Formats: sequence, structure tokens, C-alpha cells
Amino acid sequence: MACHVNLVPQSMATASAKPKAPPPPAACSISKPFISAKLVRSSQSSFVSTFSPSRPQTLTPLRSSRPMTDLAVRCASKAEPLRVMISGAPASGKGTQCELITQKYDLVHVAAGDLLRAEIASGSENGKRARAYMDKGQLVPDEIVVMMVKERLLQPDSREKGWLLDGYPRSSSQAIALKEFGFEPDLFILLDVPEEILVDRVVGRRLDPVTGKIYHLKYSPPETPEIAARLTQRFDDTKEKVKLRLHTHHQNVEAVLSLYEDLTLKVDGSVTKDDVFAQIDGALAKLLEKKRATTESLAA
Ligand code: AP5
Repeated sequence: MACHVNLVPQSMATASAKPKAPPPPAACSISKPFISAKLVRSSQSSFVSTFSPSRPQTLTPLRSSRPMTDLAVRCASKAEPLRVMISGAPASGKGTQCELITQKYDLVHVAAGDLLRAEIASGSENGKRARAYMDKGQLVPDEIVVMMVKERLLQPDSREKGWLLDGYPRSSSQAIALKEFGFEPDLFILLDVPEEILVDRVVGRRLDPVTGKIYHLKYSPPETPEIAARLTQRFDDTKEKVKLRLHTHHQNVEAVLSLYEDLTLKVDGSVTKDDVFAQIDGALAKLLEKKRATTESLAA
């Protein structure tokens, strides 16, 4: 019998990466008298990115009449969660693919642009500052974005289910900050779409404020007249602003890509959204299978 037990103490993580609430003392549901456990030491970064309040730090034996195999399967069945980044030019389809990925893989979608728009909507000082940069199609300064993303990734759901980081990092300084906090991806997806398609996608994009769903007047029209009537357009979705956003993207993209070269999956984002998803789905399914196999071999 073996359970995957993370032994790295909380104090080994960087101070800023500490979870807000301490974890409960025991969480591995052992239903047989505890005989032995294979203890797995993780790297600091692995601890930070996989820590979960529901994961064990100590093992407490419980009594039950269930067979040993039951325990092994239950301990082994919980593979490390996926950690994925998705990147691409404005309107390359990041948000659209994130909807499909989260539906299937139940990852927590953390979109830097959405966090910023929520901050703007809150009327905060940071929101006001962010809006000025977004209006010009420029990157919002790191001191606003980095902490926002970090806080979201530290939430228990991101730790437990895994995360899908959309539109971050957009500069080498953002990537380095994330790494220092202990967050590293398993996969870096790059959506590749020719520029002439991007402008068309931006100007036709509409959002449903009720469901958050992304539409396009031509490629992905609303299902009912009722939905069509309530659709909104983003303040930066104009032909002029997308040119500025594209310029910013080109200035920064190479620096980010060079940091994730070994983990990058380049996807043709110019085909239909289902065909784009098929490429991503294949890679994620393989990755998850690999993680499950690793967990099972550790539990064997
Ligand atoms: P953000 O909100 O992240 O915008 P973006 O990167 O410009 O990307 P978009 O959200 O415009 O597009 P998308 O790739 O998600 O495409 P979507 O799926 O919606 O950032 C906005 C601003 O915030 C930035 O300019 C910056 O100022 C700031 N910011 C954000 N992150 C930051 C960071 N890390 N640091 C600093 N500042 C930051 O699709 C677009 C349209 O195409 C939709 O209508 C959709 O229906 C359609 N579509 C999608 N896929 C397909 C397909 N395969 N075929 C046909 N149509 C499709």
C-alpha cells in the first residue's frame, strides 16, 4: 500500500506563496489499518503549485473492513492536477478554448484580462490605472497584474483542481515572477493565427454578460434573439485598438516563448473552434494519462 504524501513543509515555500489558511492535519482517506506508506518528496515549486488543503501532510490510520486494493486505488486515482498556460495574439481564441478546456478538464480558468476588467468594474484605484493602459493597448504594469494572478492561483480551488492560465505571462518579468512564486506549467499552449483573421475576430466579438459566454456575430452567433439582445462589446474591441494590442503582443511574445520552449504546444488556431480544441484535447489527455501513470507507479 502506498500513498503519495507531500512532505515539503509549508515554510519551504516562499513567504508570499503561502496559502492563506493552514491545511487540516490529515486528509488521505485510509480505510485499512495503516501499515506502510511510500513518502514522496517534492520540489519546492511542485509543492507550491500542487498544495491543497485536502491533500495529506500526515497520515492517520483508520479502521475499516475494506480490502487493501480499495485503498491503493483511491490513493492512486488522484493524479497531480494539470497546470496549463494558454497564449496567443489578441482574439486568437484563448477565451474560447478555455471554455472548452474547463468544460472537459474542470481546471480553474484564470484570465488576466478578466481579472483586470473585474478590477475596473469595482471602481478601485488599480482598476482606474489599469483602464488607462488597456485603452492604449499596452500591458498593465506588473505591480497590478502579478499580485492579482498570484492571489487567484493561491486559492484552494486552483490548487485542488489545477489551473488554466489565460493571457499571462505576457512579459519575461511576469514569467519570472510566477516562477519565483513556485508556479510552473506542465504545458504552454500557443495559438497561432494569421493577423488578417485576428482583426475580423475582434470586431465581431460579443460577450453575454449573463453567462460570460463569448460569441462572434459571424463565426459563433448567439443561439436566440433574447441572447442577441443582451450582448455587449468590450471597450478595447475596435479596429484601432486591436492594432495597438497586436503591436504590444509582438513586442513581448518572443521573450515569453523562449522561457517555455520545452513545454510549448503550437496549435493552428485558424481552423474552427472544435478543430482547435481537438488539437489541444489530444495533448491534455496524453498529459493527464502520464500524470496518472506516475501517480499509480508511486502508489504501487
Ligand atoms: P485580454 O482580455 O487577455 O485580451 P487579448 O489577449 O487581447 O485576447 P482576447 O481576450 O481579445 O482574445 P482571445 O484570444 O481570448 O479570443 P476569444 O476566444 O475571445 O487582455 C486585454 C488587455 O488587458 C490587454 O490588452 C492588456 O492591456 C491587459 N492585460 C491582459 N493580460 C495582461 C497581462 N498579463 N499583463 C499586462 N496587461 C495585461 O475569441 C475572439 C473572437 O473570435 C470571439 O468572437 C470568438 O467567438 C471568435 N473565435 C474564437 N475562436 C475562433 C475560431 N477558431 N474560429 C472562428 N472564430 C473564433
